[in-house]
Amino acid sequence: MSDKLEEMLNVAAAMVSPGRGILAIDESTGTIKKRLDSVNVESTEDNRRGYRQMLLTAENLGEHISGAILFDETLRQSTDGGVLFTQVMQDADVIPGIKVDKGAHPLAGFEGEKITEGLDGLRERLEEYYELGARFAKWRAVITIDEFLPSQTCIDANCHALARYAALCQEAGLVPMVEPEVLMDGDHDIETALQVTELTLKTLFNNLYEQDVILEACILKTSMVVSGSDCAEQANVDEVAEATLDCLLNSVPASLAGIVFLSGGQSEVEATEHLDAMNKIGNLPWPLSFSYGRALQASALKVWGANPKDNVQAGQAELLHRSRMNGLAAQGEYSTDLEEH
Ligand code: 13P
Repeated sequence: MSDKLEEMLNVAAAMVSPGRGILAIDESTGTIKKRLDSVNVESTEDNRRGYRQMLLTAENLGEHISGAILFDETLRQSTDGGVLFTQVMQDADVIPGIKVDKGAHPLAGFEGEKITEGLDGLRERLEEYYELGARFAKWRAVITIDEFLPSQTCIDANCHALARYAALCQEAGLVPMVEPEVLMDGDHDIETALQVTELTLKTLFNNLYEQDVILEACILKTSMVVSGSDCAEQANVDEVAEATLDCLLNSVPASLAGIVFLSGGQSEVEATEHLDAMNKIGNLPWPLSFSYGRALQASALKVWGANPKDNVQAGQAELLHRSRMNGLAAQGEYSTDLEEH
């Protein structure tokens, strides 16, 4: 086995090691502005650095966080004391990851649908990211559900791009974290979400197979199967857990290194409860963990944003609490009683 492959296998296994998951803080400049606006903090480069410094320097972050996905800007930034964030992470046993797609753009000819761009020049960017310390890379595709969507064309185009990016990642020695997100926006029921997610994942794994992606060195980041956020009838925790596992067991090969979920607009506690319910059912071929953005950051952002100078530790306490809750959920050992802190 080549050294590169051995390293990727180790990284993929560490990303989903028992009781740990991924912190997604790779918001693009546009998205982080929205988040900071929500707490009345101006989105300057230094405030973005300060916010992410607060998160990345939380004490013992690595206990429940195995890796963090960064945006290009963050991968190059340092703490107030001049230590690179990538160094802080390595010291805390948190693997640096990087978002490498260039965002979802309108899919020509298919109104309401998107295609993720970013393949041009990706080989060179991946080489640089490896040099800068990144060991895994994320690419997010977006699938929208409505009365007439998604089209097969949108699913095919996005899955093809995901597989091309994943193959380039492995060539560069980075573990691909392939993320097809079926959006929860809309009034569709959970059955529709199940069908669309299953079709998307089957198409994705066909494409990964055709492009020779090594599944043992690949992580799937997926949406859970939930009712559309405007659907009158909302599936409960057990229904979400069962539908999501049903979908995954039908479409994801057992050799994949692991599966992590995005939170996609779920509340912090919902995202934890759903993950826990799936792991309580257990007996699965892959580790199931988390790679949450909003569901790990919402409380931390709110507390820190109220007073960024004085509330660094208070914000960190919120992040560490959510990390611990999700770490327990990744082992099916969570209970809402543990939320008091
Ligand atoms: P959310 O958990 O907020 O959906 O973000 C995860 C993510 O990385 C989306 O690409």
